[in-house]
Amino acid sequence: MGRGMRPTVAWTEGEKGPCVQLLDQTRLPLEEVVVECYTVEELCDAIKRLVVRGAPAIGCSAALGMALAARLSTAGTGEELLEELRRARDQLAATRPTAVNLFWALERMMKRAEDVSSAPPAAITLVLIAEAQLIVADDLARCHAIGEHGAELIGERANILTHCNAGALATSGYGTALGVIRAAHSAGKQVHVWVDETRPLLQGARLTAWELMKEEIPCTVICDNAAACLMREGKVDCVVVGADRIAANGDVANKIGTYALACLCEKHGLPFYVAAPLSTVDLGIATGADIPIEERAADEVCNFSGQRTCPAGVRAYNPAFDVTPHELVSAIITEHGVIRAPYADSLQAAVARNDQNRSAIMPQRPAQGNKHE
Ligand code: MRU
Repeated sequence: MGRGMRPTVAWTEGEKGPCVQLLDQTRLPLEEVVVECYTVEELCDAIKRLVVRGAPAIGCSAALGMALAARLSTAGTGEELLEELRRARDQLAATRPTAVNLFWALERMMKRAEDVSSAPPAAITLVLIAEAQLIVADDLARCHAIGEHGAELIGERANILTHCNAGALATSGYGTALGVIRAAHSAGKQVHVWVDETRPLLQGARLTAWELMKEEIPCTVICDNAAACLMREGKVDCVVVGADRIAANGDVANKIGTYALACLCEKHGLPFYVAAPLSTVDLGIATGADIPIEERAADEVCNFSGQRTCPAGVRAYNPAFDVTPHELVSAIITEHGVIRAPYADSLQAAVARNDQNRSAIMPQRPAQGNKHE
Protein backbone atom coordinates (compact mmCIF):
# COMPACT_ATOMS: atom_id res chain seq x y z
CA MET A 1 0.00 0.00 0.00
CA GLY A 2 1.09 3.58 -0.36
CA ARG A 3 2.40 5.54 2.59
CA GLY A 4 -0.25 6.22 5.26
CA MET A 5 -2.94 4.34 3.39
CA ARG A 6 -5.31 1.69 4.66
CA PRO A 7 -5.15 -1.61 2.81
CA THR A 8 -7.13 -1.71 -0.43
CA VAL A 9 -8.23 -5.28 0.32
CA ALA A 10 -7.72 -7.44 3.41
CA TRP A 11 -8.93 -10.62 5.07
CA THR A 12 -10.15 -10.20 8.64
CA GLU A 13 -11.56 -12.52 11.24
CA GLY A 14 -13.58 -9.75 12.83
CA GLU A 15 -15.91 -9.70 15.83
CA LYS A 16 -18.89 -10.19 13.56
CA GLY A 17 -17.13 -13.05 11.79
CA PRO A 18 -14.77 -13.53 8.90
CA CYS A 19 -14.99 -10.88 6.20
CA VAL A 20 -13.27 -9.21 3.27
CA GLN A 21 -12.37 -5.63 4.15
CA LEU A 22 -12.31 -3.02 1.40
CA LEU A 23 -11.33 0.63 1.42
CA ASP A 24 -14.45 2.14 -0.19
CA GLN A 25 -13.18 3.81 -3.37
CA THR A 26 -16.57 5.31 -4.18
CA ARG A 27 -16.16 7.60 -1.15
CA LEU A 28 -12.59 8.76 -1.84
CA PRO A 29 -11.10 11.32 -1.67
CA LEU A 30 -13.66 12.91 0.64
CA GLU A 31 -13.94 10.10 3.17
CA GLU A 32 -11.81 7.10 4.10
CA VAL A 33 -14.38 4.45 4.87
CA VAL A 34 -13.64 0.75 5.27
CA VAL A 35 -16.48 -1.61 4.33
CA GLU A 36 -16.74 -5.19 5.48
CA CYS A 37 -18.21 -7.87 3.21
CA TYR A 38 -19.54 -10.79 5.24
CA THR A 39 -20.98 -12.73 2.32
CA VAL A 40 -19.99 -13.46 -1.26
CA GLU A 41 -23.11 -11.56 -2.37
CA GLU A 42 -21.96 -8.44 -0.51
CA LEU A 43 -18.54 -8.73 -2.09
CA CYS A 44 -20.00 -9.17 -5.59
CA ASP A 45 -22.10 -6.06 -5.07
CA ALA A 46 -18.99 -4.14 -3.91
CA ILE A 47 -17.03 -5.18 -7.01
CA LYS A 48 -19.89 -4.19 -9.33
CA ARG A 49 -20.25 -0.77 -7.64
CA LEU A 50 -16.46 -0.14 -7.82
CA VAL A 51 -16.04 -0.05 -4.04
CA VAL A 52 -12.98 -2.04 -5.06
CA ARG A 53 -11.73 -1.65 -8.64
CA GLY A 54 -8.61 -1.92 -10.75
CA ALA A 55 -7.69 -5.25 -12.32
CA PRO A 56 -5.25 -6.71 -9.74
CA ALA A 57 -7.36 -5.49 -6.78
CA ILE A 58 -10.44 -7.15 -8.27
CA GLY A 59 -8.44 -10.38 -8.58
CA CYS A 60 -7.25 -10.16 -4.96
CA SER A 61 -10.80 -9.46 -3.74
CA ALA A 62 -12.19 -12.40 -5.68
CA ALA A 63 -9.54 -14.71 -4.20
CA LEU A 64 -10.49 -13.54 -0.71
CA GLY A 65 -14.16 -14.02 -1.69
CA MET A 66 -13.46 -17.68 -2.44
CA ALA A 67 -11.78 -18.02 0.95
CA LEU A 68 -14.85 -16.41 2.50
CA ALA A 69 -17.17 -18.84 0.73
CA ALA A 70 -15.16 -21.72 2.16
CA ARG A 71 -15.04 -20.21 5.64
CA LEU A 72 -18.82 -19.70 5.71
CA SER A 73 -19.61 -23.15 4.35
CA THR A 74 -21.18 -25.86 6.47
CA ALA A 75 -20.41 -28.57 3.90
CA GLY A 76 -19.86 -32.02 5.40
CA THR A 77 -17.44 -33.28 2.75
CA GLY A 78 -14.73 -31.92 0.49
CA GLU A 79 -16.88 -32.62 -2.58
CA GLU A 80 -19.82 -30.67 -1.13
CA LEU A 81 -17.51 -27.79 -0.35
CA LEU A 82 -16.18 -27.83 -3.91
CA GLU A 83 -19.74 -27.59 -5.25
CA GLU A 84 -20.32 -24.49 -3.09
CA LEU A 85 -17.02 -23.03 -4.24
CA ARG A 86 -18.00 -23.51 -7.89
CA ARG A 87 -21.18 -21.52 -7.20
CA ALA A 88 -19.18 -18.75 -5.47
CA ARG A 89 -16.76 -18.72 -8.40
CA ASP A 90 -19.63 -18.30 -10.87
CA GLN A 91 -21.12 -15.44 -8.83
CA LEU A 92 -17.80 -13.62 -8.58
CA ALA A 93 -17.00 -14.23 -12.26
CA ALA A 94 -20.25 -12.50 -13.24
CA THR A 95 -19.33 -9.19 -11.59
CA ARG A 96 -17.14 -7.51 -14.21
CA PRO A 97 -16.08 -8.96 -17.57
CA THR A 98 -12.93 -7.12 -18.71
CA ALA A 99 -10.16 -7.48 -16.10
CA VAL A 100 -8.73 -10.95 -16.62
CA ASN A 101 -7.12 -10.94 -13.17
CA LEU A 102 -10.58 -11.74 -11.79
CA PHE A 103 -10.81 -15.00 -13.76
CA TRP A 104 -7.14 -15.77 -13.20
CA ALA A 105 -7.56 -15.53 -9.41
CA LEU A 106 -10.79 -17.56 -9.40
CA GLU A 107 -9.21 -20.30 -11.47
CA ARG A 108 -6.17 -20.42 -9.22
CA MET A 109 -8.35 -20.67 -6.08
CA MET A 110 -10.54 -23.36 -7.64
CA LYS A 111 -7.50 -25.36 -8.71
CA ARG A 112 -6.02 -25.13 -5.21
CA ALA A 113 -9.30 -26.41 -3.74
CA GLU A 114 -9.38 -29.29 -6.24
CA ASP A 115 -5.77 -30.19 -5.38
CA VAL A 116 -6.74 -30.78 -1.73
CA SER A 117 -10.36 -31.92 -2.24
CA SER A 118 -9.82 -35.22 -0.41
CA ALA A 119 -9.09 -33.32 2.82
CA PRO A 120 -11.83 -32.43 5.36
CA PRO A 121 -13.66 -29.13 4.62
CA ALA A 122 -11.99 -27.33 7.56
CA ALA A 123 -8.55 -28.18 6.20
CA ILE A 124 -9.49 -27.10 2.66
CA THR A 125 -10.74 -23.82 4.09
CA LEU A 126 -7.42 -23.13 5.82
CA VAL A 127 -5.59 -23.88 2.58
CA LEU A 128 -7.83 -21.44 0.67
CA ILE A 129 -7.46 -18.65 3.20
CA ALA A 130 -3.69 -19.06 2.98
CA GLU A 131 -3.80 -19.17 -0.83
CA ALA A 132 -5.87 -15.98 -1.05
CA GLN A 133 -3.51 -14.18 1.30
CA LEU A 134 -0.62 -15.41 -0.78
CA ILE A 135 -2.23 -13.95 -3.92
CA VAL A 136 -2.56 -10.60 -2.12
CA ALA A 137 1.05 -10.61 -0.87
CA ASP A 138 2.28 -11.80 -4.26
CA ASP A 139 0.51 -8.96 -6.05
CA LEU A 140 2.28 -6.45 -3.84
CA ALA A 141 5.68 -8.04 -4.52
CA ARG A 142 5.02 -8.00 -8.25
CA CYS A 143 4.03 -4.32 -8.18
CA HIS A 144 7.33 -3.47 -6.50
CA ALA A 145 9.20 -5.43 -9.20
CA ILE A 146 7.22 -3.62 -11.93
CA GLY A 147 8.17 -0.33 -10.30
CA GLU A 148 11.86 -1.17 -10.23
CA HIS A 149 11.92 -2.21 -13.90
CA GLY A 150 9.77 0.69 -15.06
CA ALA A 151 11.68 3.38 -13.18
CA GLU A 152 14.62 2.82 -15.51
CA LEU A 153 12.53 4.08 -18.43
CA ILE A 154 11.71 7.35 -16.69
CA GLY A 155 13.86 10.43 -17.29
CA GLU A 156 15.50 12.45 -14.49
CA ARG A 157 12.96 15.29 -14.75
CA ALA A 158 10.07 13.55 -16.49
CA ASN A 159 6.56 14.85 -16.94
CA ILE A 160 4.51 11.66 -16.95
CA LEU A 161 0.88 11.51 -17.98
CA THR A 162 -1.31 8.76 -16.53
CA HIS A 163 -4.94 7.80 -16.98
CA CYS A 164 -7.45 6.28 -14.55
CA ASN A 165 -5.94 4.80 -11.39
CA ALA A 166 -3.33 2.08 -11.61
CA GLY A 167 -2.04 2.71 -8.12
CA ALA A 168 -2.09 1.12 -4.66
CA LEU A 169 -5.88 1.37 -4.79
CA ALA A 170 -6.02 -0.71 -7.97
CA THR A 171 -3.74 -3.45 -6.61
CA SER A 172 -2.97 -4.92 -3.20
CA GLY A 173 -0.54 -2.02 -2.80
CA TYR A 174 2.04 0.21 -4.54
CA GLY A 175 0.41 -0.01 -7.97
CA THR A 176 1.52 -0.78 -11.51
CA ALA A 177 1.68 2.50 -13.46
CA LEU A 178 1.87 4.40 -10.17
CA GLY A 179 4.38 1.80 -8.97
CA VAL A 180 6.66 2.92 -11.79
CA ILE A 181 6.12 6.55 -10.80
CA ARG A 182 6.62 5.79 -7.09
CA ALA A 183 9.86 3.91 -7.80
CA ALA A 184 11.20 6.70 -10.04
CA HIS A 185 10.35 9.26 -7.34
CA SER A 186 11.98 7.12 -4.63
CA ALA A 187 15.08 6.83 -6.80
CA GLY A 188 15.40 10.62 -6.60
CA LYS A 189 14.04 11.49 -10.04
CA GLN A 190 12.24 14.83 -10.18
CA VAL A 191 9.03 13.48 -11.68
CA HIS A 192 5.81 15.40 -12.16
CA VAL A 193 2.56 13.64 -13.02
CA TRP A 194 -0.22 14.90 -15.27
CA VAL A 195 -3.31 13.16 -13.88
CA ASP A 196 -6.11 12.65 -16.39
CA GLU A 197 -9.33 13.17 -14.46
CA THR A 198 -10.80 10.09 -16.25
CA ARG A 199 -14.45 10.65 -16.96
CA PRO A 200 -17.02 9.46 -16.22
CA LEU A 201 -16.12 8.21 -12.73
CA LEU A 202 -13.02 10.33 -12.13
CA GLN A 203 -10.67 7.58 -10.98
CA GLY A 204 -7.78 9.90 -11.90
CA ALA A 205 -8.98 13.05 -10.17
CA ARG A 206 -10.36 11.27 -7.12
CA LEU A 207 -7.98 8.35 -6.61
CA THR A 208 -4.69 8.88 -8.44
CA ALA A 209 -4.39 12.48 -7.28
CA TRP A 210 -5.24 11.36 -3.72
CA GLU A 211 -2.48 8.75 -3.76
CA LEU A 212 0.10 11.09 -5.25
CA MET A 213 -0.75 13.87 -2.78
CA LYS A 214 -0.29 11.44 0.11
CA GLU A 215 3.16 10.51 -1.22
CA GLU A 216 4.02 14.14 -1.95
CA ILE A 217 4.75 13.33 -5.58
CA PRO A 218 4.19 16.52 -7.61
CA CYS A 219 1.05 16.20 -9.72
CA THR A 220 -1.49 18.25 -11.63
CA VAL A 221 -5.02 17.13 -12.52
CA ILE A 222 -6.13 17.84 -16.08
CA CYS A 223 -9.34 17.33 -18.00
CA ASP A 224 -9.01 14.28 -20.23
CA ASN A 225 -9.29 16.47 -23.31
CA ALA A 226 -6.24 18.58 -22.36
CA ALA A 227 -3.69 15.85 -23.17
CA ALA A 228 -3.29 16.66 -26.88
CA CYS A 229 -2.60 20.31 -26.23
CA LEU A 230 -0.06 19.55 -23.47
CA MET A 231 1.78 17.13 -25.73
CA ARG A 232 1.98 19.64 -28.58
CA GLU A 233 3.38 22.20 -26.15
CA GLY A 234 6.15 19.73 -25.16
CA LYS A 235 4.87 19.35 -21.59
CA VAL A 236 4.61 15.55 -21.59
CA ASP A 237 7.60 13.17 -21.79
CA CYS A 238 5.76 9.86 -21.68
CA VAL A 239 2.46 8.18 -20.86
CA VAL A 240 2.31 5.30 -18.36
CA VAL A 241 -0.95 3.41 -17.83
CA GLY A 242 -2.10 0.10 -16.35
CA ALA A 243 -4.06 -2.63 -18.10
CA ASP A 244 -7.14 -4.75 -17.52
CA ARG A 245 -6.27 -7.42 -20.05
CA ILE A 246 -3.45 -7.90 -22.54
CA ALA A 247 -4.11 -10.20 -25.49
CA ALA A 248 -1.50 -12.63 -26.81
CA ASN A 249 -0.50 -10.19 -29.57
CA GLY A 250 0.05 -7.32 -27.10
CA ASP A 251 -3.22 -5.44 -27.65
CA VAL A 252 -4.13 -3.76 -24.36
CA ALA A 253 -7.57 -3.18 -22.81
CA ASN A 254 -7.57 -0.36 -20.28
CA LYS A 255 -9.86 2.44 -19.10
CA ILE A 256 -11.78 4.21 -21.87
CA GLY A 257 -9.63 7.04 -23.20
CA THR A 258 -6.39 5.06 -23.11
CA TYR A 259 -6.45 4.40 -26.88
CA ALA A 260 -6.78 8.13 -27.55
CA LEU A 261 -3.65 8.74 -25.48
CA ALA A 262 -1.73 6.08 -27.42
CA CYS A 263 -2.74 7.72 -30.72
CA LEU A 264 -1.61 11.08 -29.37
CA CYS A 265 1.73 9.62 -28.30
CA GLU A 266 2.29 8.28 -31.81
CA LYS A 267 1.43 11.67 -33.30
CA HIS A 268 3.84 13.48 -30.96
CA GLY A 269 6.63 10.90 -30.95
CA LEU A 270 6.24 10.08 -27.25
CA PRO A 271 6.65 6.69 -25.55
CA PHE A 272 3.43 4.98 -24.50
CA TYR A 273 4.14 2.49 -21.69
CA VAL A 274 1.81 -0.11 -20.18
CA ALA A 275 2.64 -1.43 -16.70
CA ALA A 276 0.99 -4.70 -15.67
CA PRO A 277 1.67 -7.97 -13.88
CA LEU A 278 1.68 -11.14 -15.97
CA SER A 279 -1.66 -12.11 -14.35
CA THR A 280 -3.11 -9.46 -16.68
CA VAL A 281 -1.83 -11.26 -19.78
CA ASP A 282 -4.42 -13.54 -21.40
CA LEU A 283 -2.65 -15.82 -23.85
CA GLY A 284 -6.01 -17.50 -24.50
CA ILE A 285 -7.16 -14.39 -26.36
CA ALA A 286 -5.43 -13.83 -29.68
CA THR A 287 -6.14 -10.13 -30.21
CA GLY A 288 -7.83 -7.23 -28.50
CA ALA A 289 -10.91 -7.74 -30.68
CA ASP A 290 -11.78 -10.74 -28.50
CA ILE A 291 -11.53 -8.91 -25.17
CA PRO A 292 -15.00 -8.47 -23.61
CA ILE A 293 -15.57 -4.78 -22.96
CA GLU A 294 -17.83 -3.88 -20.05
CA GLU A 295 -20.60 -1.44 -20.81
CA ARG A 296 -21.71 0.38 -17.68
CA ALA A 297 -24.90 2.25 -16.88
CA ALA A 298 -25.70 5.34 -18.96
CA ASP A 299 -26.40 7.17 -15.70
CA GLU A 300 -22.66 7.34 -15.02
CA VAL A 301 -22.31 9.58 -18.09
CA CYS A 302 -25.51 11.62 -17.60
CA ASN A 303 -24.80 12.59 -14.00
CA PHE A 304 -21.96 14.41 -12.33
CA SER A 305 -21.55 14.39 -8.58
CA GLY A 306 -25.16 13.36 -8.09
CA GLN A 307 -26.52 16.06 -10.43
CA ARG A 308 -28.07 15.31 -13.80
CA THR A 309 -26.10 17.01 -16.58
CA CYS A 310 -27.97 15.81 -19.68
CA PRO A 311 -31.52 16.34 -20.88
CA ALA A 312 -33.93 13.79 -19.43
CA GLY A 313 -34.38 10.83 -21.73
CA VAL A 314 -31.24 11.38 -23.85
CA ARG A 315 -29.34 8.21 -24.79
CA ALA A 316 -25.80 7.78 -23.46
CA TYR A 317 -23.19 5.16 -24.28
CA ASN A 318 -20.73 4.13 -21.59
CA PRO A 319 -18.06 1.58 -22.57
CA ALA A 320 -15.77 1.32 -19.54
CA PHE A 321 -12.67 0.23 -21.48
CA ASP A 322 -11.07 0.49 -24.89
CA VAL A 323 -8.38 -1.49 -26.68
CA THR A 324 -5.04 -0.02 -27.72
CA PRO A 325 -3.49 -1.93 -30.63
CA HIS A 326 -0.06 -3.33 -29.85
CA GLU A 327 1.59 -1.25 -32.60
CA LEU A 328 1.04 1.81 -30.41
CA VAL A 329 2.58 0.29 -27.27
CA SER A 330 6.26 1.24 -26.82
CA ALA A 331 6.81 -1.34 -24.05
CA ILE A 332 4.97 -3.44 -21.49
CA ILE A 333 6.54 -3.20 -18.04
CA THR A 334 6.12 -6.46 -16.11
CA GLU A 335 7.49 -7.94 -12.91
CA HIS A 336 9.92 -9.91 -15.07
CA GLY A 337 11.26 -6.88 -16.91
CA VAL A 338 10.42 -4.59 -19.79
CA ILE A 339 8.89 -6.38 -22.77
CA ARG A 340 9.00 -5.01 -26.28
CA ALA A 341 7.62 -5.95 -29.70
CA PRO A 342 7.16 -8.43 -31.23
CA TYR A 343 4.76 -9.01 -28.32
CA ALA A 344 3.42 -12.35 -29.57
CA ASP A 345 6.88 -13.80 -28.84
CA SER A 346 8.00 -11.69 -25.91
CA LEU A 347 4.75 -12.11 -23.91
CA GLN A 348 4.72 -15.84 -24.40
CA ALA A 349 8.36 -16.05 -23.28
CA ALA A 350 7.67 -13.90 -20.20
CA VAL A 351 4.67 -16.00 -19.17
CA ALA A 352 6.72 -19.20 -19.60
CA ARG A 353 9.57 -17.70 -17.56
CA ASN A 354 7.10 -16.69 -14.88
CA ASP A 355 5.59 -20.18 -14.71
CA GLN A 356 9.05 -21.73 -14.34
CA ASN A 357 10.39 -19.18 -11.92
CA ARG A 358 7.53 -17.97 -9.72
CA SER A 359 9.65 -18.12 -6.59
CA ALA A 360 11.91 -15.35 -7.87
CA ILE A 361 9.19 -12.83 -7.09
CA MET A 362 6.43 -14.53 -5.17
CA PRO A 363 6.31 -14.92 -1.44
CA GLN A 364 6.22 -18.65 -0.74
CA ARG A 365 3.60 -20.87 0.87
CA PRO A 366 2.74 -21.03 3.74
CA ALA A 367 0.90 -17.74 3.50
CA GLN A 368 2.27 -14.48 4.73
CA GLY A 369 0.32 -11.63 6.30
CA ASN A 370 -1.39 -8.98 4.22
CA LYS A 371 1.41 -6.42 4.43
CA HIS A 372 1.03 -3.26 2.46
CA GLU A 373 4.02 -1.10 3.14
O1 MRU B 1 -13.21 0.58 -14.02
P1 MRU B 1 -11.94 0.48 -13.22
O2 MRU B 1 -11.72 1.64 -12.31
O3 MRU B 1 -11.82 -0.86 -12.53
O4 MRU B 1 -10.79 0.52 -14.32
C1 MRU B 1 -9.46 0.36 -13.90
C2 MRU B 1 -8.46 0.56 -14.96
O5 MRU B 1 -8.78 0.74 -16.12
C3 MRU B 1 -7.02 0.47 -14.56
O6 MRU B 1 -6.23 1.28 -15.36
C4 MRU B 1 -6.55 -0.98 -14.73
O7 MRU B 1 -7.39 -1.87 -14.04
C5 MRU B 1 -5.16 -1.19 -14.28
S1 MRU B 1 -5.05 -1.21 -12.52
C6 MRU B 1 -3.49 -1.56 -12.04
